[in-house]
Amino acid sequence: MFKWQEAYSCNIKEIDMQHQKLFELGRKLNELISLQDEFDHYDEIMNILTQLKEYTIYHFGYEEKLMDKYQFDGLQKHQKEHIAFVDQLSVFFKKNIDENQRKVEMDMILFIANWIEKHILQTDHAYKGYLNLKGVF
Ligand SMILES: [Fe+2]
Ligand SMILES: [Fe+2]
Repeated sequence: MFKWQEAYSCNIKEIDMQHQKLFELGRKLNELISLQDEFDHYDEIMNILTQLKEYTIYHFGYEEKLMDKYQFDGLQKHQKEHIAFVDQLSVFFKKNIDENQRKVEMDMILFIANWIEKHILQTDHAYKGYLNLKGVF
């Protein structure tokens, strides 16, 4: 799970590197879940969630600036999806994480998996050809 494959590539080096960071966070979560111990993992969960939040803001900003710079038509539609992910992410911080650690871990896994399948493979890939034609690799 969360193994990087060539099919995920946007053919833009910096974007691929950033996307790989999301896979890495997914793998960290997976490791945490597979521990199946009775220890408290609140700190680890918060650590991953905070990294995910920082990553999300940085990555979405980077992509939006790039699309804007090259006047990509689909920017507005793309941006809407970004906003929806940020909204979803902020819901996590409102949950009672400490009391529902397992559930939060599973929800975060689903959140990242959905992001990869629905957003990277579809929405991000929509700018791939356009930006490549503009000489962005
Ligand atoms: Fe992306
Ligand atoms: Fe995106």
